[in-house]
Amino acid sequence: MSGLGPPSASGATDAVQRPPGKVEIMYSAAEISARVGALAADIADTLGPDILVVAVLKGSFVFTADLLRALHHHGVHPRIDFMTLSSYGTGTESSGKVRITRDITDEVRGAKILLIDDILESGRTLAFARELLRERGAEVVQSCVLLDKPEKRKTEINAEFVGFAIGDAFVVGYGLDYAHYFRELPYIGVIATD
Ligand code: IMP
Ligand code: MG
Repeated sequence: MSGLGPPSASGATDAVQRPPGKVEIMYSAAEISARVGALAADIADTLGPDILVVAVLKGSFVFTADLLRALHHHGVHPRIDFMTLSSYGTGTESSGKVRITRDITDEVRGAKILLIDDILESGRTLAFARELLRERGAEVVQSCVLLDKPEKRKTEINAEFVGFAIGDAFVVGYGLDYAHYFRELPYIGVIATD
């Protein structure tokens, strides 16, 4: 899309103005809600009731909150912890190195883990988190992402549970940001630049 790169993918916190213009809806709140319900049923069937949810911040917080409540309706009673990861670098491209800026504190050893992220792009973030949790002794680590951009993958990783597979568009809303803005939108959309 014209002129809008992913500044937040670098993990940088420099102030960038909220771009003017509208956000065109790609998935409505109702479509997301239906998909989240189906994902929860699938996850409950696969992993069972006793899981540790590890959500990767910041982008997954809205999705995680809805998914947890949907999982409740399927008898899942998880422990929940949060991890903040960032790929640091300069400009709009991630350097490819992932670091932990806030770690989880819950015990991982022996746990069945559902790792949740907002979007799977290069795959580096999820690969890093999955490996870390395995090294710490998790029994199982399966991943759930709201969105998947399979064309953009730079490492061999796939999520076991995917909300929506999309093409190479930069999306915002439902937790996802552009330069720290738009996370509050109840839908997923693309910023219209004209
Ligand atoms: P990767 O899979 O390691 O490249 O990391 C993906 C991360 O980049 C996500 O967790 C998001 O924070 C960010 N990201 C990638 N694509 C988008 C997008 O379209 N909108 C908003 N954030 C994105
Ligand atoms: Mg993220």
